Amino acid sequence: MIEIFTNPQELARGAAKHFVTLGTEAVARNGFFTVALSGGSTPKRLYQLLADPDEPFASQVPWTRTHFFWSDERHVPPDHPESNYCMTYEAMLSRVAVPESNVHRVHGENPNAAEAAAEYEQTLLRLTGQTLPQLDLILLGLGTDGHTASIFPGSEVLHETSRLVAAPWVEKLNTYRITMTLPLLNNGAAVLFLVSGADKVEIVKEVFEGEKHYPAQAVQPTCGKLSWMLDKDAAGGLAADNRE
Ligand code: 6PG
Repeated sequence: MIEIFTNPQELARGAAKHFVTLGTEAVARNGFFTVALSGGSTPKRLYQLLADPDEPFASQVPWTRTHFFWSDERHVPPDHPESNYCMTYEAMLSRVAVPESNVHRVHGENPNAAEAAAEYEQTLLRLTGQTLPQLDLILLGLGTDGHTASIFPGSEVLHETSRLVAAPWVEKLNTYRITMTLPLLNNGAAVLFLVSGADKVEIVKEVFEGEKHYPAQAVQPTCGKLSWMLDKDAAGGLAADNRE
């Protein structure tokens, strides 16, 4: 399902409402809510909105029953400006009453990225008690090259079938990344792509209407719900019937 919002603020608000609904339902169903947060710039507005005391969401999110994971992380320490954890902590987690024991970050500071990935997989397996964890909500973004999480075009991770978390070397960024893999992403109960900005027009059109294959298109939840929330700028190139 594609939902298009007039601007980035309304996109963040639509995503915040969805977050609260899924969180409330998961706690009613299981007693807790498991969510994987995405990095990059687009979700930051959502995180700020969820924690904003002048907005309704901060009092509606079941913070003490929400467990936070990350769909990917950069290979940097948690206080590094490029750290997805750092961005999320500053935008949201430091401003709300979430128990530290509910925050499960990737140890990007580990010089051995593969070890950090393997450790994160064990954390997910231990905390969910599932051999293939089903997270209640997985947030994802879309890069202009069609990557999502840290699954980039041409990456060997695209073909991963057993590991839940991997540490691919990303040549064009000259660094390792730690990322949830497709088996884990596609087992999400709800997967939500947030995409904003005119710089995403081409790739959004390609992903929905193009011939070529992009990593983001490989996110097809097996039994979960896939949603795309776009702002008008990012959706600008879509055919009319895709925008309705
Ligand atoms: C990351 C992200 C990545 C991101 C896209 C879009 O760690 O960078 O998880 O997959 O979602 O690159 O990034 P923007 O939102 O900044 O355009």
